[in-house]
Amino acid sequence: MDIQWNILAEYAPFFLKGTLLTIGLSLAGILIGTILGLFIGLGKMMKNKWLSFPFGLYITLFRGTPMLVQIMLIHFAVVPLFTGGTNGIAAAILTLSLNSAAYIAEIFRAGIQSIDKGQMEAARSLGMTHVQAMRYVILPQAFKRMIPPLGNEFIVLIKESSLASLVAAPELMYWGRAMQGQYFRVWEPYITAALIYLVLTLSLSYVLSRLERRLATE
Ligand code: ARG
Repeated sequence: MDIQWNILAEYAPFFLKGTLLTIGLSLAGILIGTILGLFIGLGKMMKNKWLSFPFGLYITLFRGTPMLVQIMLIHFAVVPLFTGGTNGIAAAILTLSLNSAAYIAEIFRAGIQSIDKGQMEAARSLGMTHVQAMRYVILPQAFKRMIPPLGNEFIVLIKESSLASLVAAPELMYWGRAMQGQYFRVWEPYITAALIYLVLTLSLSYVLSRLERRLATE
């Protein structure tokens, strides 16, 4: 295992660019996924079975099929349907967002349902409407409980964004594969990629654990 430092040096700028795109894809995924997820989670909690059914179906489909299959379908079928061509970055963002929305919907639902129902009853008995009780009593407590699983989802998305390399979005893993293809080397590209992913996920989990501790003392 003789490391060829010169090819690593040559690829350093590409790894840097790739890392930035990896961060961008994951950020876009978690942001869009959270907005969609809130909406889908609320949809699934509706009392009317007919209305909540499509939201449940969405969650089942996106959690029950591999993200690899989803990104292929979205890249080669869905995006071309709308734009007439393929676009790796668009497909990656769309897949990450739609997939994480399914998981976040459940995080959101679990967060709300974990709040003791006495809280709602107490708020209502003070004269609040259902919406006010949600807004001022339930949601602030639920959001606090949602932060750890949401952070976890963000970490998962950083790692899962490596699937984007398969649809030619030039993120971190893409450049690793390019380097392997050019030099027929395996250790250098993939150890580098692994280390960078590790730095990203470890820094994020550090930030998250600090945030959790801050919220816990309140
Ligand atoms: N790699 C797995 C899959 O393809 C896990 C996806 C997890 N996604 C998530 N947003 N937590 O299904």
